[in-house]
Amino acid sequence: MKIFITGGAGFIGSNLAKKLLDRKDQVVMIDNFNDYYDPKLKRDRIKIFLEGYKFKLYEGDIRDQKLLEKIFKKEKIEKVVHLAALAGVRNSLLDPVSYADVNIMGTLNLLEMAVKYKIKNFIFASSSSVYGNNKKQPFSEEDNVDTPISPYAATKKSTELLAHVYHHIYGLNVTALRFFTVYGPWGRPDMALFKFTKNILEGEPIDVYNRGKMSRNFTYIDDIVSGTITVLDKCKGYNVMNIGGDKEETLTRYIEVIEENIGKKAKKNLMPMQPGDVPSTVADIRKLRKLGWKPETRIEEGIKNFVEWYGGYYGIK
Ligand SMILES: NC(=O)c1ccc[n+]([C@@H]2O[C@H](COP(=O)([O-])OP(=O)(O)OC[C@H]3O[C@@H](n4cnc5c(N)ncnc54)[C@H](O)[C@@H]3O)[C@@H](O)[C@H]2O)c1
Repeated sequence: MKIFITGGAGFIGSNLAKKLLDRKDQVVMIDNFNDYYDPKLKRDRIKIFLEGYKFKLYEGDIRDQKLLEKIFKKEKIEKVVHLAALAGVRNSLLDPVSYADVNIMGTLNLLEMAVKYKIKNFIFASSSSVYGNNKKQPFSEEDNVDTPISPYAATKKSTELLAHVYHHIYGLNVTALRFFTVYGPWGRPDMALFKFTKNILEGEPIDVYNRGKMSRNFTYIDDIVSGTITVLDKCKGYNVMNIGGDKEETLTRYIEVIEENIGKKAKKNLMPMQPGDVPSTVADIRKLRKLGWKPETRIEEGIKNFVEWYGGYYGIK
């Protein structure tokens, strides 16, 4: 299969590309290497993490319709995994216009291409943040998600709505994957695991929001990749699917495991809840399990892998 990954230099995109290339799929990617976080990490994912792999990478923007047209025309793409987006709930409050532009208009451009070039399956990244302050736990795909609490969440919900239109009118096979807090090696510097590891190693304090009274279904990158591939191979029609770990972990326990792996205690700044953030996200993953997928990695193993990678990448003993 020839698969087009948007956001291919990103955390999830680069990991997905590696797995698809390992099983001999052909991969074409696009990324604009924006500076939301250090673009060097994105370039190193391509240069170091994907070293020796053969794929095609376009450096460009998903808002550039002419470029997308050129890529789809030339590459004879069969399936699409659309991951390019401005991520980060908190940052979306600072620049909601850019979030809407990239996340909504970018997705719309890709849906247009998918129909025009008869793409067999279109998978894209939604987010657990669409559940907002949903009281019912765990979060199920059947729950009403009409009340997002951040611009980022509203853009992700909007893409689910647009995708449904393209399924309904044009019969596009399209699945929205609602990712739950993804972590692991080559992860994002704006996310808790990265920031905590860095600060603990440097002896700096860490900001612990809602005084640590938060819980998450943290999801290890390899489980995200295997779930995405399951959907890419098996799903038809229009679907919305949660993809998350199967164990609810508190933020306090998450920090403990980081401390154990670094061998050093964190200095904690206990902070109030951040606007736009939610105290708990727990996933109902029965729908994806029915396709034969299950999460395999516990935080004890996943955080160990991350801390080892971090030390190696930044040359810290
Ligand atoms: N990591 C998580 O915990 C998580 C949780 C829920 C949803 N998601 C979603 O999953 C997807 C991938 O997330 P990630 O963690 O790999 O983030 P990431 O920021 O590492 O990857 C996204 C990539 O998209 C690229 N990009 C952004 N705007 C672009 C544009 N206009 N044109 C071309 N490329 C562009 C970025 O340069 C980046 O490399 C995103 O859509 C994100 O919203 C991630």
